Amino acid sequence: MASSSTTTTTTTSALSLSLAFALAVLLGTVQISHAARAFYIFGDSLVDSGNNNYLATTARADQPPYGIDFPSRRPTGRFSNGLNVPDIISEHIGSERVLPYLSPELDGEKLLIGANFASAGIGILNDTGIQFANIIRITKQLHYFVQYQQRLSFLIGEDETARLVNGALVLITLGGNDFVNNYYLVPYSVRSREFSLPDYIRYLISEYRKILIMLYELGARQVLVTGVGPLGCVPAELALRSRTGQCDPELQRVPDMYNPQLVQMISEVNAEIGSDVFVAVNAYRMHMDFISNPRQYGFVTSKIACCGQGPYNGIGLCTELSNLCPDRNIFAFWDAYHPTERANRIIVSEYMTGSVEYMNPMNLSTILALDSRT
Ligand SMILES: *[C@@H]1O[C@H](CO)[C@@H](O)[C@H](O)[C@H]1NC(C)=O
Ligand SMILES: *[C@@H]1O[C@H](CO)[C@@H](O)[C@H](O)[C@H]1NC(C)=O
Repeated sequence: MASSSTTTTTTTSALSLSLAFALAVLLGTVQISHAARAFYIFGDSLVDSGNNNYLATTARADQPPYGIDFPSRRPTGRFSNGLNVPDIISEHIGSERVLPYLSPELDGEKLLIGANFASAGIGILNDTGIQFANIIRITKQLHYFVQYQQRLSFLIGEDETARLVNGALVLITLGGNDFVNNYYLVPYSVRSREFSLPDYIRYLISEYRKILIMLYELGARQVLVTGVGPLGCVPAELALRSRTGQCDPELQRVPDMYNPQLVQMISEVNAEIGSDVFVAVNAYRMHMDFISNPRQYGFVTSKIACCGQGPYNGIGLCTELSNLCPDRNIFAFWDAYHPTERANRIIVSEYMTGSVEYMNPMNLSTILALDSRT
C-alpha cells in the first residue's frame, strides 16, 4: 500500500490534472466526440483490475507472483499473471486499460476512458463473499457509477456525460461466487438449507434481472452479461472434489441450469426494452473448449493451475511460496480459479467473433461496428 505522503502527492497531481482538464474543456480544446468509446466494468475477481487493493479485505491479488507477465511485471490487483478480460477488450476498442474506480489516478481526462467498478469476492446476493469482509457489493458498484457520472458531469456537462455513457460498452461478470463462495462454500450452508439448487438459481436470476434494469436506468445501452463458467472444472474444485481429475458433476449442474435461464431472462428484458441492450456471453462454452481439448489450444494442461499447491495446485492461495510454472503460455489456469492471460485472449477472441451460441444475440465485433452515437 502507498504511504500517506505518496498518497498526498498522487492526490495533488491528480487534482492539478483535473483542473487542467476542466480548463481544456472550457477552452474547447478537448474533442470529446472523437474519443474512443468509453468502457465500464462491473463484477467480481474475473474482471477486478485492482479495486480491492484499496480495501481491507482478504480477497486480493497485490502480491507476487500476480502480475508476473503484466507490462510492469508487478502485481496490480488483477487475478492473472498478466492481462485480464477487460484489458484485452480495451485493446480491441483501441483505448487505454480502464483504471479501477478507487484508483487516485482515475480523474480528469482519464474519466473519459471509463471506469472499472469490479471487486473480487462479490456476487449477485449481498450475503455472497461475507467471509472477505470489506468488498464492493454490486449495489455499491452501481452507486459508484452514479457518483462517477456526477464527477464527469462536473467536467463536461450533463449532456456530454449522458452521450458518453449511452455510447459506452459495459461488461458485467458475476454469479460464480454465489455458488462457490456461498451455496457450496460449506456443507449445509445457510443458502443450501434454504433453497434447492433449482430454486436458488431462480432466485438469483430474479435478483440479477433487477441489477440489469438498474444498469439500463443508469444509461447503459450496450451490455455484455457473462453466464457462469464450468465451476466444477477449476483446479480448486478438482482438488476438493475430484479423485480422477474429472470435472465435479454436482458443480457442473450449475452452468447447465443457470446459463439457459440467464439467456432467457436477457431476451425477455431486451423485448421489454424494445432493443438488444443486453448480450449474453456463454462463458461456459468459451472455457469448455480449451478445458476439454487443451492441446488444440496449445496448453499442456487445463487441470493444473500454474501457481498454487496441493493436488492440481488447487489448494489455498497463489503466493511467493507456491509452485510456479515457468511458462504461463502453456497453462490454461493461472491460479486455482482464474485463467492465464493466454486463456483470457482465447476467451476474448470468442467475444469478438463468436457465433450466436457464444454471443447472443450478437458478438462484440458487431457491437463495435454499430455507430452508437448517431
Ligand atoms: C442488498 O443491499 C442493498 C444495499 O444495502 C439493498 O438495497 C438491496 O435491496 C439488498 N439486496 C437484497 C437482495 O437483499
Ligand atoms: C459476428 O456476429 C455476426 C452477427 O451475428 C456474424 O454475422 C458474424 O459472422 C460473426 N463474426 C464472425 C467472425 O463469426
